[in-house]
Amino acid sequence: MQIIKSPKKLSLALNHLRRKGKRIGFIPTMGALHEGHLSLIRRAGRENDVVVVSIFVNPIQFGPKEDFKHYPRNLKRDEKLLKRENVDFLFAPSRTSIYPKRFRNFINPGPVARYLCGPKRPGHFRGVATVVNRLFEMAKPDRAYFGQKDYQQARIIEEMVRRLKLPVRIKICPIIREKDGFAMSSRNFYLSKKERTLAPSLYRALLLTKKLVRSGEHSSEKVKKAIRHRLIGRVTKIDYIEVINPKTCAPVRLIRRPVLAALACFIGSTRLIDNLLIKR
Ligand code: PAJ
Repeated sequence: MQIIKSPKKLSLALNHLRRKGKRIGFIPTMGALHEGHLSLIRRAGRENDVVVVSIFVNPIQFGPKEDFKHYPRNLKRDEKLLKRENVDFLFAPSRTSIYPKRFRNFINPGPVARYLCGPKRPGHFRGVATVVNRLFEMAKPDRAYFGQKDYQQARIIEEMVRRLKLPVRIKICPIIREKDGFAMSSRNFYLSKKERTLAPSLYRALLLTKKLVRSGEHSSEKVKKAIRHRLIGRVTKIDYIEVINPKTCAPVRLIRRPVLAALACFIGSTRLIDNLLIKR
């Protein structure tokens, strides 16, 4: 595995491979890798000739009161994991190479960002769209892999690619969970032992939704109420519970077609998100 810090060097190495007809699969991450990330990497390995993983804790997608400073960083450990997965390139750029002094090409995240985490984390999706566009410029991948774990993020990237007519195919991959159903995330490292025992309640609440819808419930208000009821007393604070249209991410009132149940809550001071696709 080659570890590359300079965007120029990355472009050179990948241009060379592209000219030889190699297909490039790309997985952008912020590091602190876990099985969720590794599942995207393995899929990219099956579908491409060359696998590129980036690790960059993107400052502009964190709010002023969020965890940028404390976000887990462990490049040596991540390097080891990536080598084991036969990743070809680890791209670990510096802040100034992503955002040089006169950088101005900020990307509007579009209408999908109006809902869910959008209003709760002002500027977050603009930061995500901007960095992903920047990384795409550098790696020029044929395919890029995102997790359903951050469903809204993946939809925003799909829409950005469509709007800007970028020559990359976006693949959305399933959520990898712990045995007890808790969705894996780098932020899970923040939880204390006691908090960790409460964490499976998010997935359990989502499963309850599935049961309700399958047994004929059409009202999203009733479904949301059931989730809320299931979560109260187990989580510290509910940020949102929504039943949305999977294409637009807008809330739906009546559940007729497939919907996505999505939620964000705090356990202690850690913000956790999860979602579940519900086909009637
Ligand atoms: P990060 O949180 O490191 O996640 C990188 C990718 O891994 C994202 O596409 C995310 O959805 C996926 N992922 C995380 N947990 C997962 C799980 N349990 N199962 C499946 N996939 C999972 O998301 C980001 O970084 C950043 O916003 C980024 C896109 C890199 C831009 O900075």
